Amino acid sequence: VSTAEVIAGTKRWHIEQGESLAWLLTLPSNSADAVICDPPYSSGGQYRGDRSSKTGNKYTLSGTEVVRPDFAGDNRDQRAFAHWCNLWLSEALRVAKSGAPIVQFSDWRQLPTTTDALQAGGWVWRGVVVWDKTGGSRPAMGRFTAQCEYALWGSKGAMPDRLEIGCLPGVFRQAVKQDDKYHQTGKPTNLMKFLAGICDPGGLILDPFCGSGSTGAGALLAGRRFLGCEVEPEYVALARERLAAEEAGMVLGAKAAEAGQLALPGETS
Ligand SMILES: C[S@@+](CC[C@H](N)C(=O)[O-])C[C@H]1O[C@@H](n2cnc3c(N)ncnc32)[C@H](O)[C@@H]1O
Repeated sequence: VSTAEVIAGTKRWHIEQGESLAWLLTLPSNSADAVICDPPYSSGGQYRGDRSSKTGNKYTLSGTEVVRPDFAGDNRDQRAFAHWCNLWLSEALRVAKSGAPIVQFSDWRQLPTTTDALQAGGWVWRGVVVWDKTGGSRPAMGRFTAQCEYALWGSKGAMPDRLEIGCLPGVFRQAVKQDDKYHQTGKPTNLMKFLAGICDPGGLILDPFCGSGSTGAGALLAGRRFLGCEVEPEYVALARERLAAEEAGMVLGAKAAEAGQLALPGETS
């Protein structure tokens, strides 16, 4: 399956192994219907020493039994993070169609920097969707629990009203389940399916930092197409395996809605 086939709509998905900015530069202008991405937040430490340590030390709670591979690009300070985001956000803007939505994850520490970067990249910032991981996550005595992550969203210029999308809620509540977590910072599949709903039905979703493929899995389940890029070979292999399994279990056409999935336009059987 090639990138061109996914863009043309004859195939559902493709994942490239490589560096995301170089990958974005190869994609045609005005070809993606949405960008949904989860770049490394570079947030897992307050100090220089924490930033440069392995991601497993930053994002894996002590006592966790499942060992997941480390990942790239999580060592920038805030200014460098903002500069770097500008580079790929500008290129993603070129690849997106006019009016296309963008959704970008952030935690509370990087929220101000990320909203600046999104707008510096040329996107119109439109709001913040809250992912409430529920009360069990990282409780701290005498403090408010940091139980949410945030999905900033916006668009490439003006956004048309799209009746077929309907009104989407601004909060998604779901605890992390270990058997649905494939990456140190893996996002729940259902969360990604929910967010894929912002893309036009059957449309193409881009994720330049696709990790274990959660955005892709959500996109397929929501009847959208998917193009992803990831630099770490272990995660590329995992993401490809996951999407192949997802696709093999997919039902087409009329039966898709019954199974909680949406069909691609033109699917009849
Ligand atoms: C926060 S994780 C994404 C996790 C993903 N949402 C999931 O659920 O599995 C960010 C990913 O971006 C990858 N990455 C970092 N810098 C990159 C770059 N310059 N090009 C491509 N991938 C990169 C990392 O290796 C990591 O897997």
